Amino acid sequence: MNPAPPFKSTLHWSQLLRNSKRLVKNPIPFHHKWFHKFGETLKFRFFNGTKVFLTRDPEFALHVLRKNHKNYFKSDVTSEGLGQYIGKGLLTLNGDAWKKDRRLLQPGFYKERIRKLFDGVIPQTITKVLGQIPQNTPTDIKPYMNQLAFEVVTHALFEMKIEQHRLEEIRQIIDSVQEHFVKKIRQPQWNFWRYLTGVNSSIDKKVRRIRSIMDALVEERIASETSHEDLLDLMLNATYEDGSKMERGRIIDELIILIVAGHETTANALCFLCYELGQNPEYLEKVKAEIQSLEGSTTPYEQLGQLPYAQAVVNETLRRYPPAWIVDRKALAEDQIGAEWIPKDAFIAVSIYELHHHPDYWDNPMTFLPERFLKPPPAVYIPFGAGPRMCIGNHFALFEMTEVLRQLALHYTLTPITKTPNSLALITLQPERLVLCLNQKDD
Ligand code: HEM
Repeated sequence: MNPAPPFKSTLHWSQLLRNSKRLVKNPIPFHHKWFHKFGETLKFRFFNGTKVFLTRDPEFALHVLRKNHKNYFKSDVTSEGLGQYIGKGLLTLNGDAWKKDRRLLQPGFYKERIRKLFDGVIPQTITKVLGQIPQNTPTDIKPYMNQLAFEVVTHALFEMKIEQHRLEEIRQIIDSVQEHFVKKIRQPQWNFWRYLTGVNSSIDKKVRRIRSIMDALVEERIASETSHEDLLDLMLNATYEDGSKMERGRIIDELIILIVAGHETTANALCFLCYELGQNPEYLEKVKAEIQSLEGSTTPYEQLGQLPYAQAVVNETLRRYPPAWIVDRKALAEDQIGAEWIPKDAFIAVSIYELHHHPDYWDNPMTFLPERFLKPPPAVYIPFGAGPRMCIGNHFALFEMTEVLRQLALHYTLTPITKTPNSLALITLQPERLVLCLNQKDD
């Protein structure tokens, strides 16, 4: 390794401060402009002096996420900052504690479990929620897609039915915690004010509330003495390699994390999928023809694996609108990536959005073009991340999206109302609202 060169910022903190209000809502256009102007990896310091590397360089990104992942933990922003609200679980843990939980939970996402869910309750849930969207009427579909993804993930976690008002309460709490967390990170200059005015304590109260709802669900399950084939039973019954069981507090953390990680990402992607389907009705026609060309009677799960065009539409949605648009890490020790020297404790942010729109790897990157996924995508396509911290729910999410697309193609047409959705890049990338008409077909 070469001797450490001095850290030279490419961006001055005043540029961040000057734009802080607009950066809260959507930093993507700023990132894009700055990458264009200053190169593939931007460098600057946080207010506390931490050195930051924001990259869209594939070599840099895959080095951090995959090749030398042992040197890169989830950043303090995620593990401590987000962990303060959503708890210590897969998304926020590091090292051995993370590995133990990942091994324990992984079987919950094995093919057989997913098959059972997609041949059973999940298509029915999707049918039910799509059926609740007002027909032939301009409607903001974001709340419906949120509800759909939320109900689908909670079915995988808790086989039993949870009352609607409880689901709604959990969802609202998660939304307000996310908004608060993003403001805290992007406008730290107001944090003391938030403390003084009681904003922080009202959020803490909400966090306690969601934990108590989860605790009650776990309590009910233990008391019921019936067995279920869901993730909650897996956590209650499985043992770590040393023979110990998952503690109650950790089970609650993991439940909250799976709900948080598993519902909004998919809901946002579904909104953007509907937007593109509204703009381009021929995609629905092509998917329908593909479904109709399948021979013999197949189960929904089997069908989903045999629809390359539908999968291409889903993949293109995740390329063009990656819900987890940025991921972050902290360097445990100094490192070198190409010509770049990474100091210990540096904060690294990988822009998945920029990797998915990099003109060196994609023709017409801003154009929605499913056909590009009829052949294998370049290595910069990482909607679910890369390396050992890759999304545990990736197959689940792909099946869910493809099933929604399958049902839309068979039973609906979409009329666009929102011309261009206004994107918000919070923890996840989402449309501010998305109005369209869902029209049920007669056949
Ligand atoms: C379209 C939908 C989804 C997208 C785009 C997505 C994306 C991602 C990404 C990029 C990561 C890696 C984060 C990092 O490297 O820092 C991740 C991690 C994770 N995702 Fe997803 N996700 C989706 C759906 C789901 C679903 C449905 C679940 C669960 C039911 C889920 C659970 C998780 C968990 C628990 C982690 C942490 C994994 C670990 O570190 O071991 N995600 N997701």
